[in-house]
Amino acid sequence: MEKIKQQNKEILARFAEQKASIHRLWNIEEESAHLLFMLVLIRQAKYIVEIGTSNGYSTFWLAAAAERTGGTVHTIEVDDQRFNLAKANLKNMENIRQYNAKAEDILADFAAGIDFLFIDAGKPGYREYLALLEAKLTPGAVVIADNICSHPETTAPYRKYIENNTAFYSQVIHLNAGLQLAFFRRR
Ligand SMILES: C[S@@+](CC[C@H](N)C(=O)[O-])C[C@H]1O[C@@H](n2cnc3c(N)ncnc32)[C@H](O)[C@@H]1O
Repeated sequence: MEKIKQQNKEILARFAEQKASIHRLWNIEEESAHLLFMLVLIRQAKYIVEIGTSNGYSTFWLAAAAERTGGTVHTIEVDDQRFNLAKANLKNMENIRQYNAKAEDILADFAAGIDFLFIDAGKPGYREYLALLEAKLTPGAVVIADNICSHPETTAPYRKYIENNTAFYSQVIHLNAGLQLAFFRRR
């Protein structure tokens, strides 16, 4: 990961500065970002959806991996200020489409063929985001959600749905806020 960090020193320094000076960005931790980066590469994901952009920190890592797979990141943020901050932060990356919207309002319009989904927005909404996208996942898609351990009650309906659904293999990873990693086997 050092090589990527070296190549992107400037933007990563900006993210670190914003994290220290701006409240309520809620960025994932560095180890979780590195995990996302590697999972995109392992999956060779091309159509990546992120729900919850904030200022674009996790988006940056997803897009850095997607540059190596020929993929595009579609990322959604409801808050205007964080959306605009992300737009400025990510302006030099060409493989990102940003949407300034409430995810629930636009996910039905997304095309099928999603091979990587990262969920990190309003915790009570996780189950609905997945309901709106499940039919659009490709077999072998990676679905990963943050805050599974930090917000166990609000994320429980989502977690239990995945765990009890034979279409998925899944495992909670006790890293930082806790991520549930799922492999979508079939429709
Ligand atoms: C935990 S932060 C995302 C952090 C980001 N993934 C990162 O690591 O840099 C969650 C973001 O989701 C946004 N959000 C919450 N509910 C949303 C919704 N229904 N649709 C779109 N964005 C939403 C919030 O405004 C907030 O910026």
